Amino acid sequence: MENNQKYALITGATSGIGYELAKLFAQDKYNLVNVARSEEELRTREAEFTNYGIEVVSIAKDLSDRNQAMELCEEVRMRGIRIDVLVNDAGQGLYGEFKDTDLERELAIIDLNISATIILTKHFLQEMTARNDGKILNLASIASKLPGPLQSVYHATKAFVLSFSEALHSELAETNVTVTALMPGVTDTDFFRKAEMLDSKAVQDKDAMADPAEVAKDGYEALMAGQDKVISGFKNKAQVAMSNMMPDSTVADMLKKQQEPVQHH
Ligand SMILES: NC(=O)c1ccc[n+]([C@@H]2O[C@H](COP(=O)([O-])OP(=O)(O)OC[C@H]3O[C@@H](n4cnc5c(N)ncnc54)[C@H](OP(=O)(O)O)[C@@H]3O)[C@@H](O)[C@H]2O)c1
Repeated sequence: MENNQKYALITGATSGIGYELAKLFAQDKYNLVNVARSEEELRTREAEFTNYGIEVVSIAKDLSDRNQAMELCEEVRMRGIRIDVLVNDAGQGLYGEFKDTDLERELAIIDLNISATIILTKHFLQEMTARNDGKILNLASIASKLPGPLQSVYHATKAFVLSFSEALHSELAETNVTVTALMPGVTDTDFFRKAEMLDSKAVQDKDAMADPAEVAKDGYEALMAGQDKVISGFKNKAQVAMSNMMPDSTVADMLKKQQEPVQHH
């Protein structure tokens, strides 16, 4: 397949689900604009993705800083790149009881998971609607549907992302622009180390974690089909369906048990 000249901008393209998504776009000959904080990781991925015969642009930004999120939009505009697909993947969590967790980190997580998504979506959606063409994929989570004791702020940010995405999907119904939310469950990535969550019961069994390549495939297919959302994996679909029938307080207590730390003897 020839380089199809289309560009996908992927935040968080250097690791985990974002990296697997970037591979799928590269295989379909999309050019990539990859965004993450680490310049070094971006260079490594750039060398790798260039082998697909596509253009790769790497832009290092800390998207928990609103100014840098806006600079990213400006840089892409200055380079004259038209973004056909926007993937808001970069996101972080923080584990622990809210009374003990660090406020600054939580505010930074809100800025990364919510504000950066809003800033990039506003900018690129305006370009997409002006030409009546484009697609956006937002990383929500099954956490979007479940109150999350010990990850209260993270779950709440993902509830925001899902609600926001579904509202936009509806606003855009009469256009050729689509917004899709990808809802993975626990997936085997670096997320839990960054979130200081490695002691949680929820992440002890590696075999029970989803493969980020599978999650990315589900998201990619839903995005290309213009679906409003997709829950990745049967187990996660079942968990959300069951939770929908239970009182929220029961769901929260269940999640607390699942996410509590393992007892070290
Ligand atoms: N893993 C799961 O179980 C799971 C489940 C549901 C939803 N999700 C969602 O999936 C998304 C991707 O997570 P993942 O599991 O693939 O995590 P990951 O392996 O830790 O990857 C995170 C990516 O985002 C980038 N990133 C992190 N902080 C950033 C910042 N401040 N500014 C710019 N880029 C930043 C990272 O690169 P740098 O560190 O170099 O910046 C990396 O490329 C997140 O939105 C997460 O909430 C994950």
